[in-house]
Amino acid sequence: MKLIKAMRGTRDIYDVESLKFNFIEDAAKELLENYGYGRIITPTFESTDLFKRGIGEGTDIVDKEMYTFSDRGDRSITLRPEGTAPVVRSYLENKTYAKEDLTKYYYINNMFRYERPQAGRYREFYQIGVEILGNGSPMADAEVISMGYRLMEKLGIEDLKVNINSVGGNETRAKYRELLVNYLTPKKDGLCTDCQNRYETNPLRVLDCKNKGCQELTVDAPMLPDNLNAKEKNHYETVKKYLDMFGVEYVENPRLVRGLDYYSSTVFEVTTEKLGSQGTVLGGGRYDNLIKQIGDKEVSAVGFGSGVDRLMMLLAEDKVSNTPDVYVSWLGEENIDYAFLVANTLRDNGVKVYIEYAPKSANAHRKKAFKLGAKREILIDSKSKANKTLGLKELSSRDVEVVNFDELLGKIK
Ligand code: HAM
Repeated sequence: MKLIKAMRGTRDIYDVESLKFNFIEDAAKELLENYGYGRIITPTFESTDLFKRGIGEGTDIVDKEMYTFSDRGDRSITLRPEGTAPVVRSYLENKTYAKEDLTKYYYINNMFRYERPQAGRYREFYQIGVEILGNGSPMADAEVISMGYRLMEKLGIEDLKVNINSVGGNETRAKYRELLVNYLTPKKDGLCTDCQNRYETNPLRVLDCKNKGCQELTVDAPMLPDNLNAKEKNHYETVKKYLDMFGVEYVENPRLVRGLDYYSSTVFEVTTEKLGSQGTVLGGGRYDNLIKQIGDKEVSAVGFGSGVDRLMMLLAEDKVSNTPDVYVSWLGEENIDYAFLVANTLRDNGVKVYIEYAPKSANAHRKKAFKLGAKREILIDSKSKANKTLGLKELSSRDVEVVNFDELLGKIK
């Protein structure tokens, strides 16, 4: 029979990889809850219109990457390619804005994009995301960026660069777009094929093309931050001031524009050189127009999404382990009940215990205990059951101590 494999761009996460996933998820939950964020879990699929309206037609995600299909009731549905539009949908649908003036959500969810798979880029991937809804102050932008920075610190991920920029509001961007197109028009034929398309659909994206030729052609292009109005400039300057105050090291990158249409002022990305072309581990920004675009309400908002799969690639393996404290070896089927009584008593007291269900030789038990990296082995045979004792042994030594069942916890803890 032909083996059925996982779909291209998807994978199973197990063994050390799932330990890393748990480690990152636990660290993120703890940090984000410290900052006063509450978890939101939105559905895996939404109406296709949400993403068309939210992310914008003309973006790569909407035009080329969505998993969109009709369900049995002929509705067009899409597996979420990102988490911001669903959070905004929930915020509007549940009238959260009427219940509180400031909302802080975080999510840890799988996302789906039909992209060309490569190292660090999957078709199903995971994001840790945060969104602050209901506040337009530069302090919120700075806090979100510094929280991303602290998350990386907490995970022990080093050699990262925090890039920031401001893309301004709609008016500024429209004016700037004209300036940029005027600048690019005589150089158009020298751009890479992708950028020749971007020149038509989203010329700002030419600025952050990784192609050397495109970068050289745009060295003296007009840059967005020089074209912000006074209010936008002031916002951006204040974000930087607060970042300094929070101790975040950042670089200003005037070429940073991001791939989603909804940003309206501050944008930022955290990047690494260690993951080749998929080096962005976190990206986000302020999106003051999105809520109006989706639900006709003026609400300011800011947030980020960070790729868990990429964080896993950067996380050192020695940060995670799931080795048992104790391996319970038992000999003779008649002793299994006593062995489980010992194992479960320890488990109830918070000790990590590994025990097998089928009989094994003493040697096979010992080998397995080594393989699992257990610290200690408990030896149970017919005498143990009769005497209510057991053998306790450090795996690194050959000496066995005979211990009363009642004393065991005191010895182990
Ligand atoms: P994004 O830049 O599209 O932003 O994605 C955020 C992060 O998700 C990326 O920096 C990357 O780490 C990870 N990522 C994206 N695509 C893939 C993929 N195919 N495979 C693995 N990882 C991937 C957003 O999604 C926005 N919703 C972020 C945001 C929240 N902005 C404001 N609030």
